[in-house]
Amino acid sequence: MQTHSAQTQQVPIELGDRSYQILIGQGLLADDAAWAGLPRSADALIVTNTTVGPLYGDRLAARLRSNHRRVLRVELPDGEVHKDWQTLNRIFDVLLEAGCDRKTVLYALGGGVVGDMTGFAAACYMRGVPFVQVPTTLLAQVDSSVGGKTAINHPLGKNMVGAFYQPARVVCDLDVLATLPRRELSAGLAEIIKYGPIADAAFLDWLETSLDDLLALDSNALAHAVKRSCEIKAGVVGQDEREAGLRAILNFGHTFGHAIEAGLGYGEWLHGEAVGCGMVLAAALSMRLGRIDRPLFDRLRTLIGRAGLPVEAPRMPIERWLALMRVDKKAEGGEIRFVLLDGLGRAVMRAAPDALVAESIEAHTARG
Ligand code: NAD
Ligand code: GLY
Repeated sequence: MQTHSAQTQQVPIELGDRSYQILIGQGLLADDAAWAGLPRSADALIVTNTTVGPLYGDRLAARLRSNHRRVLRVELPDGEVHKDWQTLNRIFDVLLEAGCDRKTVLYALGGGVVGDMTGFAAACYMRGVPFVQVPTTLLAQVDSSVGGKTAINHPLGKNMVGAFYQPARVVCDLDVLATLPRRELSAGLAEIIKYGPIADAAFLDWLETSLDDLLALDSNALAHAVKRSCEIKAGVVGQDEREAGLRAILNFGHTFGHAIEAGLGYGEWLHGEAVGCGMVLAAALSMRLGRIDRPLFDRLRTLIGRAGLPVEAPRMPIERWLALMRVDKKAEGGEIRFVLLDGLGRAVMRAAPDALVAESIEAHTARG
């Protein structure tokens, strides 16, 4: 195993011959040790976007020159609205036009949109080439870069076309979060907050105490939040890589959240914002079903609001909500299945009566 600097933390993902490490630390884009031991090949392609490429593309390319003879780059248009076939195809265009072979390594330098698309491209190109996740948003560092879910959106549903395909490594350089817009930082906090109620009551306590440090980008607080989030996700993915059951708990708040994203049009609300509000609705439904009490609901709603996330849903007719949620990947035979809290630190997946779903939404919808 490679030796990393003392401050670099490692979280293993145990998946047999597809196991890999998540590296978390400061300055990793400039640290040769973070890139050693990865697959070597003639060609590498950095997939990034027009925002992140100019900020960090050169720094990553400099590190990769010892592993690859040629380091190519493609800058995709920025935004969830571009997480589609047309943009995905640009990655294949660059690979084929440059004559890249089946050993070529792809590097996803960006947030979850770039990571999900690069992973899907790596799964498909010549039936599979290695790829490395270099997540540059908080959300991508704590969630989307880990666990091998890759996808693009379809106009009829989010992340509907994709594959399970694991990266060779995830490199989380905390320093890049310094340039992240404040709204994106909050979006990342949504996916961090979710790990408390579904899996770790002590982590929820810690988040309540440390939220201001996280919002101030304190490096110790960020390192702990990213590490603990990755540990929890690694534990779940290690038991249920392809979401036969348990892994669905990672989608707490996402059934409502995906309906918000698709209902308003992708990109209107950030994914993390929709998840933040979705967690309020899922917690409200859990409370109506008698699975959590009011004080826990209030705690969660307060924390989500303090993180700068919306706690009130956008106004949409209930039939629209239900139709959008029936497209969710967890739905079975047209029945919507929600991730519900079952006390603090435990989640279950269940159907719920439409009337209670409607009440939960109505009680937390913006007036006017
Ligand atoms: P994103 O990828 O759109 O990034 C957010 C914005 O921040 C973009 O404008 C991006 O260009 C910019 N940016 C990224 N890094 C930056 C930096 N360091 N400095 C300045 N700007 C930077 O959004 P996201 O929140 O990272 O990811 C959301 C996506 O992730 C959604 O498509 C969602 O479906 C997906 N997701 C996937 C999984 C999974 O398991 N695969 C899990 C959660 C979310
Ligand atoms: N973000 C949910 C999952 O990876 O399963």
